[in-house]
Amino acid sequence: MEKKILITGAAGFIGSHVARLFVNKYPSYHIYNLDKLTYAGNLANLRDIESKSNYTFIKGDIVDQTFIDKLFQEHKFDAVIHLAAESHVDRSITNPNEFVMTNVVGTVNLLNAAKKLWNSSTQNSELNTHNLFYHVSTDEVYGSLGDTGMFTEETSYDPHSPYSASKASSDHFVRAYHDTYKLPVVISNCSNNYGPYHFPEKLVPLVLNNIKNKKPLPVYGKGENVRDWLFVEDHAKAIDVIFHNAKHGSTYNIGGHNEWKNIDVVRLLCRTMDKKLGRAEGESEKLITFVTDRAGHDLRYAIDSTKLQKDLGWVPSVTFEQGIGLTVDWYLNNEEWINNVTSGEYKKYYEGMYEGR
Ligand code: NAD
Ligand code: DAU
Repeated sequence: MEKKILITGAAGFIGSHVARLFVNKYPSYHIYNLDKLTYAGNLANLRDIESKSNYTFIKGDIVDQTFIDKLFQEHKFDAVIHLAAESHVDRSITNPNEFVMTNVVGTVNLLNAAKKLWNSSTQNSELNTHNLFYHVSTDEVYGSLGDTGMFTEETSYDPHSPYSASKASSDHFVRAYHDTYKLPVVISNCSNNYGPYHFPEKLVPLVLNNIKNKKPLPVYGKGENVRDWLFVEDHAKAIDVIFHNAKHGSTYNIGGHNEWKNIDVVRLLCRTMDKKLGRAEGESEKLITFVTDRAGHDLRYAIDSTKLQKDLGWVPSVTFEQGIGLTVDWYLNNEEWINNVTSGEYKKYYEGMYEGR
């Protein structure tokens, strides 16, 4: 069946993997990538699909309601997969307003445009099953865990950072549009992703880049915080399965059952890079530098994705060691990409970040 699908934020890290999967796997779908190309958006992430006849890039800002309304009326999208966001927790601490604008206002603008195009209203008694607004969210909305337990789809929201507060707010709006206007929606909340095209302000690519350049590896606090890591292509596959099979109005957690303390992730990256670069064992670990902790730093995330496994049969396809191997190879083979994204604006931001730490 032909479908016009709008993917927002597809020039970013996860969005580029989702767009690539959909463009290649579903030739009868037309994929529209709407992206503002902020510092995190990069069309080089999509070079291999940019000339495909079922792919179109549109530059634009989801905060601009007039532009968004026109776009929906012009293209009459059947479905939306919404990933565009400000995504970095540290940036949300220094500049929360931008997160409110893009993550909250931008999401509501898209919901308004979809509601209008798909005739969703308070008068509807039944859900429209042809269309779908798929909102891609994060496990950070659930807050922080102690030493035990996992986040399920029933866990109450308890966001702590301006980033997670903005994503929690957008999740609430998505559910509100479903409950109030019968907008057909689905939400997924995923744990930490890693893999190719990850912007090197995030832990894994930042550490890989710094190891390569023999620069300090900044570990916040004591490195005891725990994250649940998932290879980005497995996230994209989960989005595909949920997009095609989830009941409208439902929520799915996505995670790899793969908890690691930050310090252990950094040590694994050091060992892997030392081997690949032919450096002496232990050489890169000497670069580890403990720095002032992130304000409001959540201690532990762990996702229970049993529902996704039981209902829709999704399980991760690679182990962490395999995924890290693929990621390290990708970063070593794509020096030009890293040099491009770490020059200019990012360089200034990064150097400012660690002043006084
Ligand atoms: P990213 O920062 O790499 O990419 C975000 C993309 O959105 C960029 O291409 C950027 O240009 C675009 N964008 C930003 N503001 C925009 C605006 N106003 N209008 C249009 N486009 C805009 O982010 P990511 O890591 O790929 O995350 C994508 C989504 O997945 C986000 O919603 C994030 O909250 C969610 N998520 C991320 C992770 C993770 O580990 N990275 C985990 C779970 C959920
Ligand atoms: O859990 C999902 C979330 O994962 C997504 O919603 C976010 O968009 C994504 O950025 C990511 O958030 P984190 O804050 O967990 O990712 P980050 O890579 O910034 O940090 C991972 C952990 O490593 C975190 O505990 C902070 C720590 N850290 C991070 C950086 C950048 C360091 O110790 N040193 C660093 O330099």
